Amino acid sequence: MGNCCNYKITTYSVKDTKKLGEKIGKRLKGKIVLALTGDLGSGKTSFVQGLARGLEVPNDYYITSPSYTLINEYPGRHPFFHVDLYRLEDPVDFEDIGLYDILDDNYVVAIEWADRIRQELLPDYVTIKFEMSGDTSREICMSAHGVNSVNLLKEIKNRL
Ligand SMILES: Nc1ncnc2c1ncn2[C@@H]1O[C@H](COP(=O)(O)OP(=O)(O)O)[C@@H](O)[C@H]1O
Ligand SMILES: [Mg+2]
Repeated sequence: MGNCCNYKITTYSVKDTKKLGEKIGKRLKGKIVLALTGDLGSGKTSFVQGLARGLEVPNDYYITSPSYTLINEYPGRHPFFHVDLYRLEDPVDFEDIGLYDILDDNYVVAIEWADRIRQELLPDYVTIKFEMSGDTSREICMSAHGVNSVNLLKEIKNRL
């Protein structure tokens, strides 16, 4: 499936992007890896905030890009991990940053700057690419890599 975009959507405000994340979060039933890419300010964290809401992470948890941690865990309808690899300079292996166990388990994992890990090592995952197409518009492009991800994306396309 490579770089091809299976599903493209444009949002016109930060609220839209959060809402998109929330809708997808509501659909998630089990293990999934969301590999988020895009420049600083393109909306990845905003999307993850919506995702957390859809996964019923309690409101008193504020999801932000952590300064000193690469991985944060949140409670919710399903265990949820938010990973931000912004501070990594070179592509790394999972083992080096403790991602391995998380990816292997039955968790929802959203990874910002996912292009900073070697993606060929990822299990079944959905790529979500964010592009700034204007001051307040973002093009969000999703593609699936693996059976579960293809099914999830089909469901998203049909039901969002
Ligand atoms: N359509 C949009 N979707 C998401 N963020 C937007 C949008 N329009 C403007 N913004 C702004 O862009 C910034 C996105 O920041 P953030 O979600 O932290 O991005 P990233 O995690 O990719 O660096 C915020 O300041 C937000 O208010
Ligand atoms: Mg961010």
